[in-house]
Amino acid sequence: MIGLKIKKNRANDVRKILFRRSFIDLNAKIKREDDFVIFPLSEKPDEELLNELEHESIEIVDTVFEMQKRNPKSLKDYLKGKIDPQKIEEIKGSFDIIGDVVILEVPEELENFKNIIGEAALKFTKRKAVFRKKSEIKGIIRTRELEHLAGEDVSETIHQEFGTRLMLDIKKVYFSPRLATERKRVADCVKNGEIIVDMFAGVGPFPVLIAKNHNVKIYAIDINPEAFKYIKKNIELNKVQDRVFPILGDAREVLKERNIKADRIIMNLPGSAYEFLDSAFNFLKDGGIIHYYEFASDYDMALKRLEEAAYPRKVKILGKRKVKSKSPGIWHIAVDAKVI
Ligand SMILES: C[S@@+](CC[C@H](N)C(=O)[O-])C[C@H]1O[C@@H](n2cnc3c(N)ncnc32)[C@H](O)[C@@H]1O
Repeated sequence: MIGLKIKKNRANDVRKILFRRSFIDLNAKIKREDDFVIFPLSEKPDEELLNELEHESIEIVDTVFEMQKRNPKSLKDYLKGKIDPQKIEEIKGSFDIIGDVVILEVPEELENFKNIIGEAALKFTKRKAVFRKKSEIKGIIRTRELEHLAGEDVSETIHQEFGTRLMLDIKKVYFSPRLATERKRVADCVKNGEIIVDMFAGVGPFPVLIAKNHNVKIYAIDINPEAFKYIKKNIELNKVQDRVFPILGDAREVLKERNIKADRIIMNLPGSAYEFLDSAFNFLKDGGIIHYYEFASDYDMALKRLEEAAYPRKVKILGKRKVKSKSPGIWHIAVDAKVI
């Protein structure tokens, strides 16, 4: 097997170059001999690589290497020796898997390693595509820019969650797998016979899960035509055509035009749901429940807004919780409020 022999003091720099250019054979172990290190190579170095390595100081040798005993099992294993372990933890923490697609954050200082990280994530997760977050979630339709890193450059996928199948394009619609437990929690509160409105339904994860488990009527509103396209598909995929009714439009306008009176309203638009509270309470029946979401450090403002919007009726707070972290000190919070 061919190897690249280099003086110990240059080994670290050379290893980085070989890894970046995918010349290291990861199945074999790096060899150490006196003052030298020998890297196992997957193929003979080309001219470009030799130039980059300043080839006077290296020697290509034919030698025997000990093979690695096990296949890498974690992202850490895949990136061991190439990236600072603390940084690997950061990358791991930012992982989202949506169907066959992985979305992750690559810190700016690891820009040069983005493709290595992408390939490692692809192997580690055994999914089909890896994308990198290139912006915050922004705009009315709550999407973000993404950069393709590894695997197929395909952004449409089918995600499975608590027995539902959700088709979506991660570039065109909002979807977060981190809300799965919250959706299950809300779905578990529902009773048969309810009329429900999801004012900001996206591709329909709340309505579909609720309708799969309860005999209800759900109006699923979204302003994004792409989300509307996928919610229609998801209603079919999950066979809930008789329970979920998709509507394209602005939630405030739709409620007014259709005069829908609801037992339960879901308001998962945490950045600006408060602007729609007056409209939601206008269409919430006495005794009805609102699942309200905000980005906040505590619950004070959300509780005040709910009280004010319900006036002259009163609200009883049934529950409140931190759903997930948004940024340091800021949470995606949920408050369940019953109007009495
Ligand atoms: C944070 S996403 C939530 C989607 C979905 N509930 C979920 O859990 O995946 C908010 C959604 O609200 C939609 N939206 C924003 N403004 C809206 C409005 N005025 N009327 C209806 N939908 C709106 C966006 O297009 C987006 O799909």
